[in-house]
Amino acid sequence: MSKKKVGIWLIGAAGGVATTSIVALDALARANARGKTGGKGPDRAGHAASDITTALTSELPPFARLDLPGWGDWVVGGHEIRDISLPDAARSMAGPEGFLPAKYLEPAMASLEEIARRVRPGTIVGAGPTIAALAGPDVPREESAQDAVRRIQADIEQFMADEGLEHVVVVNVASTEPPIDADRLPHRWADVEALLDSPTCPLPASTLYAIAALKAEHADTTASYINFTPSLGSTPAAIGELVHLRQSRHMGCDGKTGETLLKSVLAPMFARRNLDVMSWVGHNIFGNLDGRVLDNPVNKSAKVRSKDHLLSEMLPRPPQTHVSIEYIESMGDWKTAWDHIHFRGLLGVPMTMQFIWQGCDSILAAPLVLDLARFTELARRRGHVGPMPFLASFFKSPYGVSEQAFDRQFAMLERWAEQE
Ligand SMILES: NC(=O)c1ccc[n+]([C@@H]2O[C@H](COP(=O)([O-])OP(=O)(O)OC[C@H]3O[C@@H](n4cnc5c(N)ncnc54)[C@H](O)[C@@H]3O)[C@@H](O)[C@H]2O)c1
Repeated sequence: MSKKKVGIWLIGAAGGVATTSIVALDALARANARGKTGGKGPDRAGHAASDITTALTSELPPFARLDLPGWGDWVVGGHEIRDISLPDAARSMAGPEGFLPAKYLEPAMASLEEIARRVRPGTIVGAGPTIAALAGPDVPREESAQDAVRRIQADIEQFMADEGLEHVVVVNVASTEPPIDADRLPHRWADVEALLDSPTCPLPASTLYAIAALKAEHADTTASYINFTPSLGSTPAAIGELVHLRQSRHMGCDGKTGETLLKSVLAPMFARRNLDVMSWVGHNIFGNLDGRVLDNPVNKSAKVRSKDHLLSEMLPRPPQTHVSIEYIESMGDWKTAWDHIHFRGLLGVPMTMQFIWQGCDSILAAPLVLDLARFTELARRRGHVGPMPFLASFFKSPYGVSEQAFDRQFAMLERWAEQE
């Protein structure tokens, strides 16, 4: 197996999910060096090997024999638009108001300083006014879509060259953009490419990043693209064509970490017991930067759609649904979701199930980002090209996969892992 390093390029590098991923990766690399990880997964009693590997799917037994990159094999870089250093961003997520444990943050400070030197100014082209208002002075205000693609591509290529990387996994963990209907865009890559030069190019920043990532190349090194957000990213068919032209791979969209994960577990249970779900209401409150951006109704609509569509795809009769997301500043990164499920049993007798999920958003999301990077690198080593349906269990709206039940999606990952 090659000993060359692999890159993770985080778009939104100083955000909650990105920063938590970096701190966790640092802890994992240290533990790896001490021989305290290594794909052992839970022991016979079900206890995780250590709290560092807890929540990492790639550390589970079905994946133990895979040729996954080690935790120390990664180099991190990224794009960010806010004028905030990575160490400062991390510090703001620790302490009494925060969630990052000091015992992992303090040793990670040197890594955060080093990675901060590889964070480049991002683009706000097509990102909408709420996101543009976050941008610091280094972010160009007037660049064209084509200029943005060229600049981002050059940054990723520089990263490949400077670090001598074998492959780069570009992960979009930037703020959620206002929605754009992918069906209204041209379906052929050649037509979308021509749009980049138009002053009225409709492509949002997330798609410009996807194009730049897929075009990036240095010597034999190329990149794959993962869209962890509900933003458009590589969703358009034309970008799927570019993925094939570049012999690359991509997957999205929108990480499935909390309330929607529960929906994808519980809805199949109702369906398989032939219980008739009449309505499913989910109220979400949280107070981090993601929540502040989603407080804009336009940005929020992309997220609500992403959280809502699963139920009608999993239940035989689409129930009445309602999803609300409210920004409550005092909650910080802790998201509370209260779901009320009204269903009918034998003889039409109505019943109710309610659950309350109190999760720390970034702590739930970061392990998925790290798992996705590892599995994507393995997919490249296996020569996989195109969307990666075996990663469906990580997403609310998996590209090219109609199966929404979590257990069946997970079985897809296990079957892929068993292939040689
Ligand atoms: N559990 C979860 O946290 C979870 C689950 C699924 C999806 N997501 C999605 O992941 C994304 C990140 O979540 P978060 O909690 O880290 O949000 P966050 O607001 O903490 O971080 C987003 C970061 O992206 C930066 N950014 C915004 N637009 C950018 C651009 N065009 N280029 C470069 N950087 C840009 C912001 O400045 C910020 O630092 C959001 O879109 C969120 O909806 C999160």
